[in-house]
Amino acid sequence: MKKLVGLIGYPVSHSMSPEMHNAAFQKSGLPFYYDKYEVHPDRLEEAIYNMRTKGFAGWNVTIPHKQTIMPYLDKISDEAKKIGAVNTVLNENGKLIGYNTDGAGFVKGLIRHVHFPIEQANVLIIGAGGASRAIGYALAQTAPKSIVIANRTMEKARDIQIECLREHDKVMSLQEAAAVLSDFQIVINTTSIGMKNDGSTPIDLHHLAPGTVLSDIIYNPYKTAFLQEGEKRGAVIDNGVSMLVLQGALSFEKWTGMQPDIELMETIVIEKLG
Ligand code: ATR
Repeated sequence: MKKLVGLIGYPVSHSMSPEMHNAAFQKSGLPFYYDKYEVHPDRLEEAIYNMRTKGFAGWNVTIPHKQTIMPYLDKISDEAKKIGAVNTVLNENGKLIGYNTDGAGFVKGLIRHVHFPIEQANVLIIGAGGASRAIGYALAQTAPKSIVIANRTMEKARDIQIECLREHDKVMSLQEAAAVLSDFQIVINTTSIGMKNDGSTPIDLHHLAPGTVLSDIIYNPYKTAFLQEGEKRGAVIDNGVSMLVLQGALSFEKWTGMQPDIELMETIVIEKLG
């Protein structure tokens, strides 16, 4: 009999995770099946009860349940606690353990595509939402020279700096960061600016130095205005496919104890995006 895993969120219809994971399970010869489940916030507790008792091996969690699921779990990893969100649950004989693979997935994706020694980089993270927190925390673990978080609302950037980064890491306004953009070797957009495909960029790229790594966590559009403009200015670019695939690969490892075929997962996602 197949072991069940899946994604809970509201909505979930757009998700490519089922195709990505099912192809990888099949390739590894694992008897797992991944499906997506739309769970209204009012029915989260009931959904967790059902998944626990129906023997789900685990599942992924997306918006709006990443924080609200935490009180229902039996144990939460240190990483997920620091990030304040869970995107992966493992059901260990009825005991539910919460993890967060978003940040580590982002870092793995970046390393896979961009061959720049992170420990020598000054990194700029634009945005201070949930994605920024996960990425900031995971990046700090890889010990880059410095991390700066720039955000429209400085207070939110400061919270992440205090809770997830190191003492010498800093916050800046978007304007301050734009003025010293050439100081950074890696620049990451974690905001939703670019999703509408209206040509707007989260930061002015005028001072971008050629060779800078520009990473956007958005994968639809495939190449945001931020990446397009960066590329014109000689940046090395990477879109959100890397993070999507590698956070999924890390969830796969939690559930199965095996490493998936990452290239296959990536091919499936790129194919689906058309
Ligand atoms: P998530 O949790 O998915 O990362 P979020 O919490 O909605 O997303 O965070 C969105 C980020 O995009 C925030 O940093 C937000 O800036 P504020 O903290 O100032 O709200 C940023 N953002 C969204 N739209 C923006 C805009 N038009 N200009 C500047 N920043 C914007």
